[in-house]
Amino acid sequence: MADQAPKVVVTRRLPEPVETRLAELFEVELCESDKPMSRDALADAVSRADVLVPTLGDKIDAGMLAGAENLKLIANYGAGVDHIDVETARARGIQVSNTPGVLTDDTADMTMALILGVTRRMKEGVNLMQSGDWTGWSPMALMGHRVGGKRLGILGMGRIGQAVAQRAKAFGMQVHYHNRRRLHADIERPLEARYWESLDQMLARVDVLSVNAPHTPATFHLLNARRLKLMKPTACVINTARGEVIDENALTRALRNGELAGAGLDVFEHGASVNPRLIDLPNVLLLPHMGSATVEGRIEMGEKVIINIKTFADGHRPPDLVVP
Ligand code: DGY
Repeated sequence: MADQAPKVVVTRRLPEPVETRLAELFEVELCESDKPMSRDALADAVSRADVLVPTLGDKIDAGMLAGAENLKLIANYGAGVDHIDVETARARGIQVSNTPGVLTDDTADMTMALILGVTRRMKEGVNLMQSGDWTGWSPMALMGHRVGGKRLGILGMGRIGQAVAQRAKAFGMQVHYHNRRRLHADIERPLEARYWESLDQMLARVDVLSVNAPHTPATFHLLNARRLKLMKPTACVINTARGEVIDENALTRALRNGELAGAGLDVFEHGASVNPRLIDLPNVLLLPHMGSATVEGRIEMGEKVIINIKTFADGHRPPDLVVP
């Protein structure tokens, strides 16, 4: 691609500095809408692009890729690539890159916000203030639980899981984790983290569970009804990764039946179609997938996209290629 400028097609509005830089560097077709494209519009975009810049709402499956005549690189704006059929892309000679690292701290911060928000009953406190019914301080009103000394189980100990572990340790929590592979001792030791090969055994012991695993065929509904039942009724579940890792109906039932004490969710099994029976629960704090939503992080994600495209356009291997 070194001798010919690639045509870059972007599927969503991106932060202004990112769009400006893309337009300075490449022949780019920016998107005017902040709504996800219809499937037809996306297929059209795919068919026109040498380089496509999609985001997590854009389902790029095998059918979509069948119409990708010139596509050589999918430079995803985001870390998770579960909306892209990476295997088919690879089989068709299309490279896929993402934006790892730059959203780690923001997502870990939001995970801590949810852990504290749920354990300290912030939703109920906010609701009370907004209702105008608060009558003043009371010795036993809205008592939550202290996180210090409690066991945090982290499901998925990649970059974000480790960043959550660092923060949780600073809050005095005891870190436990389950991961496909045990971490090297040099990483595990400073976190004083205990590895559990058995997820079931870890679930039975933790006070808070933080899901930080990607959505893959292996993690789909990893937290199913059977596993949720292993948890203590006083425990809560936090998810800032992908909704599909938890069986949302089973979680809703467990919360409604008092089999779990609370949940803090930034992601949902069916995207924006959130189970309505979750929404009104006082012990459930829901956010609209905003874990990485900082001005700084979203610009840095754009910078990563640009570096990946620029490196590709110069005839080299993009630094953030996703290897299936
Ligand atoms: C990602 O990049 O995959 C995140 O979920 C967006 O916040």
